[in-house]
Amino acid sequence: MRQRIWEALVFLLLAMLSKPVSTRPHWRPSEAHDSAASYCLSWRLAVEANDIYAWRTVPTQCLKHVENYMTGGQYERDLNFIMEHITDYIDTVEVSDDGLDAWILDVDDTCISNLIYYRGKRFGCDPYDPDGFKRWALRGGCPAIPAVLRLFNKLVGRGFKVFLVTGRDEATLGQATLDNLQNQGFIGYQSLILRSMAYKGQSAVKYKSEIRSQLEEGEGYRIWGNVGDQWSDLQGNCTGNRAFKLPNPMYFVP
Ligand SMILES: *[C@@H]1O[C@H](CO)[C@@H](O)[C@H](O)[C@H]1NC(C)=O
Ligand SMILES: [Mg+2]
Repeated sequence: MRQRIWEALVFLLLAMLSKPVSTRPHWRPSEAHDSAASYCLSWRLAVEANDIYAWRTVPTQCLKHVENYMTGGQYERDLNFIMEHITDYIDTVEVSDDGLDAWILDVDDTCISNLIYYRGKRFGCDPYDPDGFKRWALRGGCPAIPAVLRLFNKLVGRGFKVFLVTGRDEATLGQATLDNLQNQGFIGYQSLILRSMAYKGQSAVKYKSEIRSQLEEGEGYRIWGNVGDQWSDLQGNCTGNRAFKLPNPMYFVP
């Protein structure tokens, strides 16, 4: 009996000594991790749904989340998924031979990618740097976004008049943008429309609305689709029959 009591006491002592030194409950770190991941998923959903207006930077706790999203394969998978739906829609449109069936594509982070540039800006955790972006754009080295290049070729092949509409400044970035689109295989579009002096300082919504209105009301085009990575590419007047928002969790253009 006494033997048993000793055994029990030794067992109890060992059990007490083997308890973790820390008084923190052991589930803390993983819960903190889950809540950061969960927060960043909520943040990104709200950004894509345009529920957060005029946000300036990616929250620093979401740097890894946005980096993983943009470079880990999900961004491409999302683009490919969206393209399948755009393609299904294109197949329902009967293109007329009057040459007035039009389609609008945005340029930055729609046709060509600035991901390499934004990697150096902590995927959008650093604030917008207009001079830095201009230097990057002048190099004309933005790679094509493959899914959108395939869409572009399909549109041109089907006989749509494709208009590339960008907020880039015509005077300073016109030639570099033209060259960049060409060197990435965007060949056969109707025209590249850049921001001319007349639209300097105007919001993207107003500027792009006026361009679309000129095409529709001025020149008689029918805009069947409009694709952009910013809501400001898609909002306003003469929005076209369908608008397609591509993901972009790195920056917001008002
Ligand atoms: C849309 O059209 C209306 C009427 O012409 C005009 O007042 C308004 O400013 C336009 N909105 C944009 C964003 O261009
Ligand atoms: Mg864009």
